[in-house]
Amino acid sequence: MSSSEREPIAVIGTGYVGLVTAVGFAELGSDVWCVDVDAEKIDRLRRGEIPIYEPGLDELVARNSSRLHFSTELAPALEHARLLFVAVGTPPTHSGDADLSAVHAVVGSMPRPDGHALVMKSTVPCGTGANIRRIFNESGKSGFSYVSCPEFLKEGSAVGDFMHPDRVVVGGEGDWAEEAVVRLYEPLDAPLVRTDIASAEMIKLAANAFLATKISFINEIANVCEALGADVVEVARGMGLDDRIGPKFLQAGIGYGGSCFTKDVSALKLLAGNSGYHFQLLNAVIEVNELQKRRVVSKLKRHLGALAGKRIALLGLAFKPNTDDMRGASSLVLAARLQAEGAHVRAYDPIAEDQARTLMPQLDYADCADGAIADADAVILVTEWREFIELEWEQVARAMRGTLVIDGRNALDGTAVRAAGLTYEGIGRRR
Ligand SMILES: NC(=O)c1ccc[n+]([C@@H]2O[C@H](COP(=O)([O-])OP(=O)(O)OC[C@H]3O[C@@H](n4cnc5c(N)ncnc54)[C@H](O)[C@@H]3O)[C@@H](O)[C@H]2O)c1
Repeated sequence: MSSSEREPIAVIGTGYVGLVTAVGFAELGSDVWCVDVDAEKIDRLRRGEIPIYEPGLDELVARNSSRLHFSTELAPALEHARLLFVAVGTPPTHSGDADLSAVHAVVGSMPRPDGHALVMKSTVPCGTGANIRRIFNESGKSGFSYVSCPEFLKEGSAVGDFMHPDRVVVGGEGDWAEEAVVRLYEPLDAPLVRTDIASAEMIKLAANAFLATKISFINEIANVCEALGADVVEVARGMGLDDRIGPKFLQAGIGYGGSCFTKDVSALKLLAGNSGYHFQLLNAVIEVNELQKRRVVSKLKRHLGALAGKRIALLGLAFKPNTDDMRGASSLVLAARLQAEGAHVRAYDPIAEDQARTLMPQLDYADCADGAIADADAVILVTEWREFIELEWEQVARAMRGTLVIDGRNALDGTAVRAAGLTYEGIGRRR
């Protein structure tokens, strides 16, 4: 490889993180060998289809198709690449710890010959790298290098996040592999945090736990605002202008969701607990978030009385806009609670319906926002997709049976909703 050539890489696991990482590095000039155990996914990728919804990803895949190679086999990846990025899932187990079975399946499948490195993109508990090093050493694979390179992309803006990261974190053993990963990221010109493996692992968990804490904090402020007549949007604006606080992640709503926050906060809490430390703050963060999803039900009851037989429209189901990801979505808890109260729930999501159907097959799905709203006693904005923000509220008012609009993301123009003769209720907003 000449110095001007880009290092070829492999990416194991082609989900949200793996595919974006693969395509991002291909865009920067690397040949990328992608491996996944999901044969159907690999078939689709080979045909140029994108199995996930992520804005901008299809164009990038098309533009770099000659550099992207997809297989269910590890062998071509091992043959062509030294750096094997691991981006397999690490979902929660029943105990709330991170399930590392996919990570260990990858580790176990590594062959004996040296000269490769595992570069961990999956979010793993602090200490995982050290365990994998031990496994390699004890199984005659000490020639394998290991680098922790946690991922911070956000679904919905993942391509931009890959190309313009706030920072790149590389934790290594000070060897060729660490150096090679640093070089791969160089063209992005991002601030680099070069550190040891355990600290890199901890940076990822701590960052997600802190963001979740910020959300639960503002949600508690919102709940106090409701009791005292203040408006959380005004409060957050005033707080966020403080340089030390910043405006991001201060949007009150019906709780955080997604695959990452939910599982990573729980994993960090348990990781601390398993090592003898009781992480009190995270207990509260998790509990506040769980209760926040359910507060909407009390709001509905305050306006509508008992919910049995009431028709409730859910606008949006994905855990946030611009993704089809339903993992940990607040809509799952909310819909289940409403159904348990005997309400008739009709939902619409512009992108996430297929994923939602597999998790909530019993829900009534509309094929457009109007269909969900028709004859509803109450409408709840669950995911702030643009098309919901741009709804014509006079039209909504004519289509509904009742008048209640609950803005679960504080994203609607309350004045416009009220002007249409509807009752607007946000989260922590002044009425
Ligand atoms: N999704 C995000 O926004 C995000 C952001 C940062 C970090 N992460 C972390 O990145 C990791 C991956 O997350 P994701 O959302 O991309 O998951 P995902 O479920 O979308 O993708 C995981 C992929 O790995 C494949 N896989 C599982 N076992 C495999 C094996 N043994 N060999 C090859 N492929 C295998 C699966 O088939 C799947 O395609 C997780 O640890 C997650 O916490 C996710």
